[in-house]
Formats: sequence, C-alpha cells, structure tokens
Amino acid sequence: MDNNIIEGKAIGKIILIGEHSVVYGQPAIAIPFLKAQIKASITKSTSKTKLDAYSFNGLLTDASSNLLGLTTVIKKVLEDFNQTPFGFDIKIESSIPAERGMGSSAAVSAATVRALYKFFNVALDNQKLTDLVNFSEKIYHGNPSGIDTAIVVNEKPLYYIKNQALLEFDYHLDAFLIVTDTGEKGNTKLAVTNVKSFIDNNVSLGNQIIKDLGNLTEQAQKVILKNNAKSLGDIMNQAQNLLSQLGVSNTMIDNLNKVAIENNALGSKLTGGGLGGCIISLCKSKKDAELISRKLLANGAKGTWIMDMRKEKRD
Ligand code: MEV
Repeated sequence: MDNNIIEGKAIGKIILIGEHSVVYGQPAIAIPFLKAQIKASITKSTSKTKLDAYSFNGLLTDASSNLLGLTTVIKKVLEDFNQTPFGFDIKIESSIPAERGMGSSAAVSAATVRALYKFFNVALDNQKLTDLVNFSEKIYHGNPSGIDTAIVVNEKPLYYIKNQALLEFDYHLDAFLIVTDTGEKGNTKLAVTNVKSFIDNNVSLGNQIIKDLGNLTEQAQKVILKNNAKSLGDIMNQAQNLLSQLGVSNTMIDNLNKVAIENNALGSKLTGGGLGGCIISLCKSKKDAELISRKLLANGAKGTWIMDMRKEKRD
C-alpha cells in the first residue's frame, strides 16, 4: 500500500427475512454479505476535497443528492476533527452496485468513516461508528430501523430488533443462497414511505401484515436453528407474498422469483427495501443453485452470487 493512501473497508448485508416490518419493531434476520466489499481510500491533497464514488467524480461540495448521506457524514467527521472539508481525495471502490438492497449506503459510509479515523489516528469503537453510519442512513432513508448499520458495523449474523441490544444469530444451514441483482435500482426511502402510506390507508390490514411478517421471522429463526432449509423456503415464499401486498415488489422481482421456484428453489423473495434491487433464492444444493443462477441470468437478472450457508463453509 502506498504510505500516503489510507484505506477503510466494509462489507454489505443481506436481510433473510423481516425487511420493512423491522421498521415497526418486529424482528428481522440479516447476515453479512462478504461478497460485497467496499473500500474507501483517502489521500491528503492541497486542493478542495474531491470524491470519486460510483458514477460521480468531482468536488465533494458538488456531489449529487444520492450521495448526500456520504458527503454529510464526511463533512461531520472533518468538523469533529476541526478540519474544514477541504484537502482530501476520497475514492470509493465497490464490488457491488449501489441501491440494490445490499446495504451499500451503510457500507460506503462505514468504510469512509473508518478511513478518516485511521487517517487522524483516532480510535473508533463500534458505538461511535454506529452513530455516524446511522446519521448518514437517516439522510439516505429517512426512518431506518438501523439493521443495515448493525450488520455493516458488527459483521455478524443478527436477529435484530430495533432499539434493542444486538443478538448474534449463530446458524448453520445445509443450503445455498443465491443473491440475484435484478438490474433495477431499488429505492429504500420510497419503499419505506410507500409502506407507511399503505398502513395509514389500510390500518387493520397493514398492521396485520407487519405482525404476520414478524411471526414469519420468528418461525424462520426456529427452522434455521433446526437446519430445516425446506421450511425456511416456504416461509420465504410467504414473506414475499406479504411484501408484495405491501407494494414493495415489482414485475421483475416477481418474474425472477417465479423462475427460481419453477427451477427447484426452496423459496425466493426480495431482500432489502424492494422496488427493484435484489432477490434471494434458497437452494438445496450447490448444483441446484448453479442451475437456477443460470436460469435467472437467462431471464434478465444482471448478476448472481451464490452463498454457502453451512457454518464452516460460509463465504
Ligand atoms: C432496508 O435494507 C431494510 C428496510 O427494512 C428499511 C430499514 O430497516 O431501515 C426496508
């Protein structure tokens, strides 16, 4: 590594079950997504701070509004260190596309904050990092449950309930999970807003769906602990149905879920905010996962990643 370049890294997350209902206090299960690697590199410069992230490359102060969470947290950290927001080149490299429900916004903020703290040689504990990443997530998503931040900061599978102490979820599942990029950008902020409107307009049905999603997460926890992938698949399908009723699925997600199920997936659902983004499909074997992955790509998916869910093989 060039001595002048300081790096911070972070990984993404996958919500197995419980997205959206987690905003309303129900439990959710999420796992680190190690194939999503985000790197922030910073170098001191003599001119104004520049940012090179995704499709933006220019002055920090000119960054587009979809980077507002990141630029605001950068300014905040620089202010905390009594630095003006001038004099750094910040470059973000990501192995995953942005806005696909894989926690990239939290991961980009975490990687950058880690790099800045390293640069200033100040210790950064998980609580401080959590506060800063949540600060940027609020700008991106309005009313985040904190689940993305919790996974990105702690890098452990979690049974997560908003505003409660973190519960690590140590699991082993004889199964493979395909994470599929639909190629369409998700929009977590809009999806969370739409769900709120749905509940406001359909109070009894909306609250029932949220409760049912919470119950499904509880059931998922039990069947995962019994290493019962088949039942988890059924539960995932039920969760997809409820998320669809809440209005956060779309045609591409529905089509790809159908392709996965028709080709022997145990279950398939959207993951994260929805309205685009990614789906996850649970498969009995690696062979099934590879075949289903090919079918998904042939039906319009833009990318797939296969995760081994066995404890000792997890990747
Ligand atoms: C986004 O990854 C998950 C949502 O439940 C929003 C949140 O929990 O903040 C949709």
